[in-house]
Amino acid sequence: MTNLSRALPRVELGRGGPSIGAQGLGCMGMSEFYGATDEAEARATLDRALELGVTLFDTADMYGLGANEAFLADFLRRNRGAALVATKFGYVRTPQTPDDWSLSNRPEHIRAAVERSLQRLGVETIDLYYMHRRDKAVPLAESVGAMAELVSAGKVRQLGLCEVEPDELREAHAIHPIAALQSEWSLFSRDIEDEIAPLAAELGVTLVPFAPLGRGLLTSRDFARALPKDDARLNFPRFAAENLDGNDRLVAEVEAIAAAHGITAAQTALAWLYARARALGVAMVPIPGTRRRTRLEENVAAATLTLSEADMERLETLAAKVRGVRV
Ligand SMILES: NC(=O)c1ccc[n+]([C@@H]2O[C@H](COP(=O)([O-])OP(=O)(O)OC[C@H]3O[C@@H](n4cnc5c(N)ncnc54)[C@H](OP(=O)(O)O)[C@@H]3O)[C@@H](O)[C@H]2O)c1
Repeated sequence: MTNLSRALPRVELGRGGPSIGAQGLGCMGMSEFYGATDEAEARATLDRALELGVTLFDTADMYGLGANEAFLADFLRRNRGAALVATKFGYVRTPQTPDDWSLSNRPEHIRAAVERSLQRLGVETIDLYYMHRRDKAVPLAESVGAMAELVSAGKVRQLGLCEVEPDELREAHAIHPIAALQSEWSLFSRDIEDEIAPLAAELGVTLVPFAPLGRGLLTSRDFARALPKDDARLNFPRFAAENLDGNDRLVAEVEAIAAAHGITAAQTALAWLYARARALGVAMVPIPGTRRRTRLEENVAAATLTLSEADMERLETLAAKVRGVRV
């Protein structure tokens, strides 16, 4: 069932910030990590997303070693004003050093990284600029201070952080308002619910869950087994052969609820997330990643689906049973 008759709800991006579609689009897989991409279909997916009310498009400077930002440039040029772009700095890997996974949050790195991102994206201002990961070698105040200067200079509109601890979010927010916190959140990864989500609600920070479909694992029992051998996810513990049967038993629960409602497992996983955000009173814009229009339509429709209390109870215990740590 793909109910597209109901408009995608809207959510504030940070307290007092712009009103955006309550679902964004993760663009990472269009350029790296998830196997070959049909470029024409990926481009059509971007256009369809905007038609359906999706306004936040998520990338990072390291996705495809810059290629993902460059891929978005044409779409952004055609849709400036309607489409907001979120990108990230922090990983230092480049086309010359693709295996260098070290981090830098030094102000001089941030100042150079933003110029490269602006150029690749072909925009004058980045709508949302995230610290991709905390580099503990640099005091947080120095990095956030450098990010705030980018706002003053008009290079960036709003600031975001990814995967930080509660005290880091509080400290950063006191230096400059943090509009968004991007962290993993799904039926399989619920650690942000205890402290981070209530803190985000208190501070008026919008949560932007990444991998809301468990990197695809939550979409069907066959998902991991069907991946090509070069897919980066096969290196992740949750996709490891010894954990697949255990995790598939959990996905079977999601599929059973989906079947009872005539929806898909992916929609069930997303509807659960929207329900949890409502229960926690936090503004949320998940960014499921897809390169296909049919899946995008399915995911967008999930923003207005409702699960019963019995469904929520049945799904409540899954995360504790997941095999393999999250990475
Ligand atoms: N801040 C960070 O550290 C961080 C880390 C990871 C990701 N991210 C961001 O978050 C975004 C989303 O995360 P993710 O892509 O890793 O994981 P995800 O959204 O949980 O899952 C994406 C996977 O699910 C598949 N999929 C999507 N919708 C589907 C549907 N309705 N039915 C069946 N399969 C479906 C996609 O395949 P197809 O593409 O083939 O449709 C893709 O393989 C990324 O694109 C990226 O922008 C951020």
